[in-house]
Amino acid sequence: MEQLQIDKMLEEQGFIDEPIDPKLKLVEEINRLKKEKNAVILSHFYVEGDLQDIADYVGDSLGLAQAASNTEAEMIIFVGVHFMAETAKIINPSKKVILPDLKAGCSLAESAPADKFAEFKAKYPDHKVITYINASAALKTMSDVVCTSANAKQIVESFPKEQKLIFAPDKNLGNYINSITGREMVLWDGACMVHEQYSVEKIIDLMDQHPDAEFIAHPECEKPVLLLAKHIGSTTSLLNYVQKSRSKKFIVATESGILHQMTKACPGKIFIPAPSADSTCACNDCSYMKLNSLQKLYTCIKYGQPEVTLPNDVIEKAKVPILRMLEISK
Ligand code: 13P
Ligand code: SF4
Repeated sequence: MEQLQIDKMLEEQGFIDEPIDPKLKLVEEINRLKKEKNAVILSHFYVEGDLQDIADYVGDSLGLAQAASNTEAEMIIFVGVHFMAETAKIINPSKKVILPDLKAGCSLAESAPADKFAEFKAKYPDHKVITYINASAALKTMSDVVCTSANAKQIVESFPKEQKLIFAPDKNLGNYINSITGREMVLWDGACMVHEQYSVEKIIDLMDQHPDAEFIAHPECEKPVLLLAKHIGSTTSLLNYVQKSRSKKFIVATESGILHQMTKACPGKIFIPAPSADSTCACNDCSYMKLNSLQKLYTCIKYGQPEVTLPNDVIEKAKVPILRMLEISK
């Protein structure tokens, strides 16, 4: 979603920034309002721990899309980023979908503006388009099927080997899937700011300092980082791996929010965030995911906004590749 659209939606819906009584028990209030409004809270692994703990479902992008397609609640509160809430709306057009902060975008989704992508696609008329879920609804309307990091290999392999493919917008995930499937998909040149900032040299140094640690990484990381990894997978896959592995220590190359679940699932194990090239920043935190807070969640559920809205024709077109993904991933 582009900034102008966000500004327009904020203007239309009004921006609620009222002071909250510091004595209010936010978790209790959120749970009360959730029941009253027949709402469900879906949180991604990258948001703060308190927002993961209050969720009815916490998971990776695939799990969240599946949870959104299975819910019977009347209202979906998506504690993640905009493209995730948008996907939930596309699957559930008759439901109200709200998110704590409309400005929670995604650098990867923004790296593929719809008009530029349309020009790119036009150069490859005999190619089918696989779109990573971290993309705008507009991009999804131009796609044959959507995928997430958990099912990208399966989705790519659902096409015959001779079928020419475009993969967008993440070039790192696309490159990785090309390398494990032997395909030569044409890649859009996009990337995630969090997964592109790791320092290979510093990771190697850290591995030397902790020879008993396993290095694991999300496939949105760049190739030189992935080449060092013992295990590569979606956030759910990384979480499952640390639980099954006999190792007691892990160096983790993905957004820091996942460490909350890892520590909860494996209290005796040690998790070290992979080092960034710039040691002065909090670069392992996705600044968009971290726009979510308990206070904003409370206000959002209380007032039922900001709400995600999309034109009907966009919903109808974008729904096709998303439902196709959900069908293949059953
Ligand atoms: P997964 O949820 O598929 O692990 O992807 C992570 C991500 O970048 C979400 O923004
Ligand atoms: Fe987007 Fe990267 Fe943040 Fe995920 S971590 S929401 S891909 S910017």
